[in-house]
Amino acid sequence: MCGIVGYIGTKKASPILINGLLRLEYRGYDSAGISTIENNSISIMKDKGRVKNLYNLSGIDDLEGTIGIAHTRWATHGKPSKENSHPHMDNSKTFSVVHNGIIENYNELKKFLIKEGYIFYSQTDTEIIPNLIHYYYSKDNKQDDLKLLRSIKNACSKLKGSFAIEVISKDYPDNMIVVRKDSPLVIGKGDNENYISSDIPAILSFTREFYLLEDLEFVILSRHDAKFYDKDLNSINKRIQTIEWNASSAEKDGFDDYMLKEIYEQPTAIRETIGAKLTEDSKCEFDELDFTKEYLQSINKIYLVACGTAMHAGLAGKNMIEHICKIPTEVDIASEFRYRDPIIDNKTLCVFISQSGETADTIAALKLSKEKGAKTLAISNVIGSSITREADFSIYTHAGPEIAVASTKAYTSQVVLLSILTIYFAEILKISEKEVKSLKKAIIELPSKIEKTLKCTEKIKKFGHRIYQEKDVFFLGRGVDETVAKESALKLKEISYIHAESYPAGELKHGPIALIENNITVISIMTDPKLVEKTVSNIQEVITRGAKTLVVTNQKIDDKMFDTVIHIPETNSFVSPILSVIPLQLLSYYISKEKGLDVDKPRNLAKSVTVE
Ligand code: AGP
Ligand code: GLU
Repeated sequence: MCGIVGYIGTKKASPILINGLLRLEYRGYDSAGISTIENNSISIMKDKGRVKNLYNLSGIDDLEGTIGIAHTRWATHGKPSKENSHPHMDNSKTFSVVHNGIIENYNELKKFLIKEGYIFYSQTDTEIIPNLIHYYYSKDNKQDDLKLLRSIKNACSKLKGSFAIEVISKDYPDNMIVVRKDSPLVIGKGDNENYISSDIPAILSFTREFYLLEDLEFVILSRHDAKFYDKDLNSINKRIQTIEWNASSAEKDGFDDYMLKEIYEQPTAIRETIGAKLTEDSKCEFDELDFTKEYLQSINKIYLVACGTAMHAGLAGKNMIEHICKIPTEVDIASEFRYRDPIIDNKTLCVFISQSGETADTIAALKLSKEKGAKTLAISNVIGSSITREADFSIYTHAGPEIAVASTKAYTSQVVLLSILTIYFAEILKISEKEVKSLKKAIIELPSKIEKTLKCTEKIKKFGHRIYQEKDVFFLGRGVDETVAKESALKLKEISYIHAESYPAGELKHGPIALIENNITVISIMTDPKLVEKTVSNIQEVITRGAKTLVVTNQKIDDKMFDTVIHIPETNSFVSPILSVIPLQLLSYYISKEKGLDVDKPRNLAKSVTVE
């Protein structure tokens, strides 16, 4: 959650830091602050509320320092307040620290520091960090260049939990130290300047050259240099990675909101994700993978593990892998999987799906699977993200940066990548040839079919206008359509705050139908030719009880039966979620707009859930 920005260079730091924080706003936060060094003393400006409030703090314009750290906080310990906002200083005001993450053993460390005479002014876990650094700093009698680094390293060795940390010190006005563990942090290299950020898009307008940090790698930044050290403070070399996204792909491009832009980017996202991996006439290729027939035949189970929308993509993936590759596949919610003692051994393949690659529960589930001897494969949208560095193999969706909290193009790209992975497995296993051929053709045709599907906008907007004041909405489907019902209900909840339930249509009579009353909205998805008649009968049952209905379908049905029918192009059932979800993404978007809500930054949510 939250965001971290840092700058060390020759320009005034404060405007750069605030600009960076504004670009990280989408991650969700409740307070903001910055800290710079001027004339060998540390200044801090912070408050609860929005980043733009920082501009109104008196004295902010006088911060002339060319080195500084900045933070948006998503409170975990202590309510959102000025005192709890970051940066935090140690008692001697020598160090200023921003921290993203959670220090799990902060209580124990706080008690220790209190015994040592330290006083605490906030309720945060973070405040122990500058004081612990000070504790080690004051005990270190060597006066060399590495003293600050040593003290930070000693402090970090006591921390349990997750952290991305930036530290500046009045004793080292020309250096900044950063380190991360299980929380994101990247370093952007400029000309005689270095930038630090929680993610790449926030500083993409300043540089395209990045260093990606591994867990417990320490960096000493100066204006002209970045020196890297491992967890034992041995010096290490880091490769610069050049990022190809342009800064404008991280901006709104004339759309009112990121979410709408991202919905419309889906044809491109899918095209990019297919890339050169799949053509109609040749075998499917993944440069990153080297699975063999023997290995795939030896697998007794595949787990697809993820959270939220990424987990819904996994549900679509399960259908394809089981049907086409005949390998038993289970989908698990990462936060459940990691605590339920799953049966995993070296014959299990565990696949982790995460747009951000930074979701704490997904990373923990991945670590657990590795410990139990499984082979692990990460599917992410972010190159170099934590999950991809942890997994044995990584493959990428190429959806470009997804900024809106509600995931759209990442979901459809994940379903596409899972379908390509399914084909890759089937071709190695030499099975289901006919189905593979038809699925390949369907995947290649998807981008143009998405463009056609997007034409439903006006009809959807009208239906949204009819139902935007509703309190409850039901989503129904069978088979693969039920996975889309789940995803669509999540989308509606997230950005319109309407209570939405999804059910397999056949399950309705086993309870939920008791909730159907006059004028309630029931939305159904019908794309599976084998199941369409059955779903129509279920919808008939709710119509009889007074429901108004929206149907998304690619089948011939009697339109007159329903209030609104959205016809989408026909495609192979396995990839039909990629088309059928689109009208329902748009429905959530327009309902949220009609209600005047913040579509891109819904309340209580964060883009990247880096705490458990
Ligand atoms: C999607 O709309 C949600 N905001 C959320 O469910 C998200 O998909 C989930 O937190 C997983 O994120 P990840 O893909 O970055 O791991
Ligand atoms: N745990 C810290 C706090 O509550 C940092 C939270 C964050 O990541 O913003 O202050």
